[in-house]
Order: sequence, then C-alpha cells, then structure tokens
Amino acid sequence: MSSVDATGSLALDVEDWDAGMLSRLAAEHGTPLYVTDLDRVRQNVRRLAHAFPDARRMYAAKANTGQAVMATVLDEGMRIECAAADEVTRAMEAGADPDRLQYTAVNPPARDLDEMVALWEAHPGLRVTAGAADTLDRLADRGFTGDLLLRVNPGEVNGPHESFAVGKDAKFGVPYERAVEMARAVREEYQFDLVGLHAHGASGMSGELTHPEAARRLAAVARDAGGVTEIDVGGGFSVPYRPDDEPVDVDALATETRAALEEVNARLAIEPGRYVVADASLLLTRVNTLKETPGPTVVGVDASFTTLMRPALLGSYHPIRNVTGPDREETEITLGGPVCTSTDTFCQDRPLPRPVRGDLLAFGVVGAYGADLTSEFHSQPFSAEVALEGGDDRVVRERRTVEDILARERR
Ligand SMILES: Cc1ncc(COP(=O)(O)O)c(C=O)c1O
Repeated sequence: MSSVDATGSLALDVEDWDAGMLSRLAAEHGTPLYVTDLDRVRQNVRRLAHAFPDARRMYAAKANTGQAVMATVLDEGMRIECAAADEVTRAMEAGADPDRLQYTAVNPPARDLDEMVALWEAHPGLRVTAGAADTLDRLADRGFTGDLLLRVNPGEVNGPHESFAVGKDAKFGVPYERAVEMARAVREEYQFDLVGLHAHGASGMSGELTHPEAARRLAAVARDAGGVTEIDVGGGFSVPYRPDDEPVDVDALATETRAALEEVNARLAIEPGRYVVADASLLLTRVNTLKETPGPTVVGVDASFTTLMRPALLGSYHPIRNVTGPDREETEITLGGPVCTSTDTFCQDRPLPRPVRGDLLAFGVVGAYGADLTSEFHSQPFSAEVALEGGDDRVVRERRTVEDILARERR
C-alpha cells in the first residue's frame, strides 16, 4: 500500500496536473495519450472506504478495465463487479480472487454463462446478479445453485443523461411489482441462495431515485420476501464535470443510505465505477489545425470521438485546458478531431485560451468510460495510456498501430 491518504479535494481539477510533466509525457509517448493517476484512484477508494466501512465495496470494472487500475483497487482491498465473462478474466489477471468477484448477467451470451458456472463450481464464493427469469432458468440448466442477487428495476430515475437512466429501462432487472414473487421463486423454486437484492439506478444519479431511495425501495421488497441479507445499490455516485457541479458528500450519502436499511437489518453493498476513476485521468491531445470562421474559431486536434466517445455519444461535458498556452486571450472555439463526421466534435463555442498549432490540450475527468469506451472506427488505432504512481510513470496500455489492425484482418 502506498502512503496516499483519503484526504485531498473531492475532485482533482484539470488545472492541478503539473504542466511540465504533461508536456514531457506527450513528447515521450505521443498523442492522443491517456494519463491515469493511480494515487488518485487510491484516494478515491479510501474516501469510499471511510464513508462505507461496513459495506461490501466493489469496483465496477467497466468504468476502466485496465490492469493497472484493477490491480490498484484490489490492492486497496476493494472487490470487483464484472458484467461480462471476459471482464472476469481480466479482473483475475489483475489479481482478483474469483471467490470475491460478483458477475452481473445482462442478456448473458451462452458462453459467458458456461464460463461463469464453471468458475463458480471451482470458486463457490463467486456471486451472480440476474435480472430476468430467463437468466435464472439458464443458470439452473447449467447446475448453478450458488449465491444470487436478484436485480430489481427500481423505477423512474433522473440521471444526467437519458442513456444513463437505466433504472426506468425495462432491459435491467425484474419489474418492481414482481420483485417479491421473483425473490421467493429464486429461493423456493430455483433453490438458489438468495443473498441479496440489487438495483443500479443510474450512472451519476442526481434525481428522484438517489441511493437512499433505491435502498428504501429494495428494503420494502426484502421485508416482504424475507431472508434477504444484503442490499446492493449499484454504482452511480456522481462526480463533478462542470466547474459549478457540486461534488457528492459520500459520508452523508452513506449515512442516509444505511438508515434506509435499518428496518431490514441488511448489509449494504455498493458498486461504484465512475467515482473511483473519473477524475484520475486526463486525455492529452495536440492541436493540428486552426480555422477562423464568421462564427467560432474551429480547432482541430489529434484525438477524436473514437478516443473519447462521451461527448459525441452522450453530449457529455469535459473540462479542457490549454497546457501550453494557458494565459492567452480567451476566444470561443469549436473543437473537433480528424474523423470525417460531424459527431466528431468535443465542444461548440466554448471560451478557451486561443490555441496555436502544436499546443498541447488536456481533457479532464476522462477516467471513467474514457479509455475503455473507444473504437478503431476511421482507422484510428487505440491510444496509449500512461500511469502515474508514487512519482514514477509507466505505459500501462500500449498504443495500437495500423499494423495491429491489419494483423487481425484477412482478404
Ligand atoms: C450493474 C452496474 N453496477 C455499477 C455500475 C457503475 O456505475 P457508475 O460508473 O456510475 O458508478 C454500472 C454502470 O453501468 C452498472 O451497470
């Protein structure tokens, strides 16, 4: 364990990263380049551990499934929640004990279920979350009788973006009205060990359904179903992206969420992804084109929506810093990458220090659903990722090249 403590501001600002170090990393490794501060990941994990000391704390691997990040959260004593069999494989490669993993089955392919049931036979501590009777049937068909969490659809949620408001999406979890009946069936008909109820309301939850409310709704199901010892409220702990976003008070949230469970005497479980990694990474990119128009100044960079998809996919805001020329006069800029589609735009008309060709820019708060939510569309090979730890830096994901793409293709 490193000497990093749980203090530190609740959000590492894009301006806080050392400009000299960022310039050196860009020169050494090229751009676009993800930079992930593993000490920051530790701080975020420790803040959660402080707020939720008695809860089962799992890192939702999908936020950043890199080996360095998973090895770091494991070293901090956190468990891992995986939502695909291959995510489980990657978590184990990072050092996870399968007996401490939780596998969330969402429309699971047969191969995933085969692998997970085989793994559970060797490691009965592996838990499965299922949210459809069909999935229960398919687990039973494979001889599974282990620890199961029933995923319940908690209902209407106001997340920051429609795509993240999974609580009201029928794709996830059994309908709330059927949850008691299904929970009883899990125990009595399927003869699984129903260890808990699960609900993931939204990523970056902010609206009607917050964690305490999710816990209350699940507690009501637990009371009627009986025998439930754990309530898993999923992930969804928000982080500030915009300058005026308020950081979530995790201590207060934890107290309120625990209070919602008092009556049912169930242990709390959480599965944050974003909160653990979001502010721990920057994406460095180099300015290559400037174009004056009657409207904004159009600025071209070497990162594209294939490198950082959230703005194009979700309309997400990321802070942008001009590392090279922070003091230049501000002007409204529209920033886009080299991909020949209009979706490849990171911001429109945003006031930023006027860039010049060659400037190094940094997108902030890209650690969650950044490096992992990329594609090689438009022949843009995956970017490299450098990790910072204890004053040192190292490449933790190598840059792909066009040769790597061609090596996987045949005529
Ligand atoms: C089941 C489940 N748990 C946890 C998470 C993590 O959410 P977040 O990154 O917002 O904490 C997700 C995200 O999609 C999820 O689907």
